[in-house]
Amino acid sequence: MQELWTAVDRYLDDLLIGPDPVLEAALRDSAAAGLPMIQVTPAQGKLLSIFARLLGARRILEIGTLGGYSAIWMGRALPSGGCLISLEVDPHHAEVARNNIERAKLSARVEVRCGAALELLPRIEAERSGPFDLVFIDADKPHNPDYFEWAVRLSRPGSLILVDNVVRGGAVADPGSGEAAVRATRRMLEVAAADPRVDATAIQTVGRKGYDGFAAFLVAGGRPKTPQG
Ligand code: SAH
Ligand code: DHB
Ligand code: MG
Repeated sequence: MQELWTAVDRYLDDLLIGPDPVLEAALRDSAAAGLPMIQVTPAQGKLLSIFARLLGARRILEIGTLGGYSAIWMGRALPSGGCLISLEVDPHHAEVARNNIERAKLSARVEVRCGAALELLPRIEAERSGPFDLVFIDADKPHNPDYFEWAVRLSRPGSLILVDNVVRGGAVADPGSGEAAVRATRRMLEVAAADPRVDATAIQTVGRKGYDGFAAFLVAGGRPKTPQG
């Protein structure tokens, strides 16, 4: 099925997104710099930007920058005066990302901070950079439960928290999985399901990156959660 999923992604990306020299250059330079090509797909990047615009997001937090591909998509969705802070542990990734963001003319709005996210997040809280309207969690999966907790802390009612790669070829449904990433993601989903502060869902996806999915958590606001929540 992978060939078909890739062909459909190619069709949708060509039709709905089309050529984008800045994003293509970001991918080219990321590959040339030896970064793993695990960024969101064009269609997923565009969905991130649609979510950001739907939220009227002025402040966005990303955990896991890589070469800045998803950051460019979300950064473009910001109004002037908006800001995106993206956290990246690998200095080489951060440098490639900063160059890609510069070329996208987003340096005034998109800031890449280099360090382990769990060390940077308390500083972001201390300097009162939040609350963030949108948080995109896409870093080391074993820390997903911690990142979820930080994302809620740094949010406000009505904020959206998205988590990439929660399905992992279906492994998420295996309670006996020995993979740290799967165990942690299951724990995050279980914690979120029981957390009255968020309304949770998750969606399976297929495409050029295989069979995976993302979770979406709406931070509880004035409205009650959906029934049973
Ligand atoms: N969001 C990116 C892809 C991120 S890939 C995109 O779609 O374009 C995951 C990134 O998380 C990698 O660059 C990896 O170096 C980074 N990462 C891993 N552990 C981390 C940590 N503890 N803190 C911050 N970033 C981390
Ligand atoms: C991996 C990480 C990702 O964020 C992703 O979208 C796909 C794969 C990985 O670590 O293999
Ligand atoms: Mg990912």
